[in-house]
Amino acid sequence: MKHLLSLENLSRADMESILSATLTMKRERGHHATRPLAGQTWALIFAKSSTRTRVSFEVGLRELGADVMFLSAADIQLGRGEPIKDTARVLGRMVHGAVFRTFAQADVEEFARYANIPTINALTDEEHPCQILTDIFTFQEQRGPIHGKVVTFVGDGACNVPASWVFAAAKLGFELRIAAPRGFQPALSLLERAGFTHLHARSTPAGEVIQATIAATGGKIVITADLQAAAAGADLLYTDVWVSMGKEAEAAARIQVLTGYQINESLVKLAQPGALVMHCLPAYRGKEIDDATFEAHSRTIFDEAENRLHTQKAIIAWLVG
Ligand code: CP
Repeated sequence: MKHLLSLENLSRADMESILSATLTMKRERGHHATRPLAGQTWALIFAKSSTRTRVSFEVGLRELGADVMFLSAADIQLGRGEPIKDTARVLGRMVHGAVFRTFAQADVEEFARYANIPTINALTDEEHPCQILTDIFTFQEQRGPIHGKVVTFVGDGACNVPASWVFAAAKLGFELRIAAPRGFQPALSLLERAGFTHLHARSTPAGEVIQATIAATGGKIVITADLQAAAAGADLLYTDVWVSMGKEAEAAARIQVLTGYQINESLVKLAQPGALVMHCLPAYRGKEIDDATFEAHSRTIFDEAENRLHTQKAIIAWLVG
């Protein structure tokens, strides 16, 4: 039984296979040779809001032949405290696959273990694997192989999206720079889990810079509070919201600390000429990105949004193939 629960547990070969199949899904949209989910019903169980993930999965599953059932976690007994493992064992006897968006990564993993049906992590507090596979596809579609390139993540470096980027950098062999203030940087234990070695820290006038590498793939991580240094020469500038879902009570404090960690025109000038700018959306203009930069790069950003559909169809086909 295959699941897509994290990039941590997805092999490089499987990642590359999904990325390659995404191109086929995109080219063949509307005239797929087979409908591998014909006769199946899949459940989307969402405990958090969603526009892109929900719509792209509903459309993608239907295009692959499945019927789809959207279950807001608040509207089923899960929202009243029914254990995950009981919900999973019920759904596992009725539906053929599940897409789960929730808070704890452990909950998605428990669901997959008990439901015994293909299960996809549609975002947890710890990972957003479908998003980052899509982002890499979008980068490669426009700029070629990501291997050896420089990706700079700007903003809250301690949340799910940069964590999935860390696992991707380790496996696909690119340099990931995370520009974030102290308190919003990924834990060193995450780098170790991803397989990075030769961790070392050096002091600079802008604070401590942490670097780590993986010799086998060429992956590299740089974590710094120095936004300008992190953006210099980057092939991709990437950001996400400062206040992730579930962190609303911390909004004012987060905005205060993260102010300045913004992708704007002066930051883009430091990157490679022609560098891409991406945002996984929704975007809060004036916070993690300014309006002029968002609009200047909106074609790439909405290609990225559209590519959720194609990437997730490739993930589903890989799961059931
Ligand atoms: N990027 C993303 O996951 O968007 P939604 O929250 O709208 O699904």
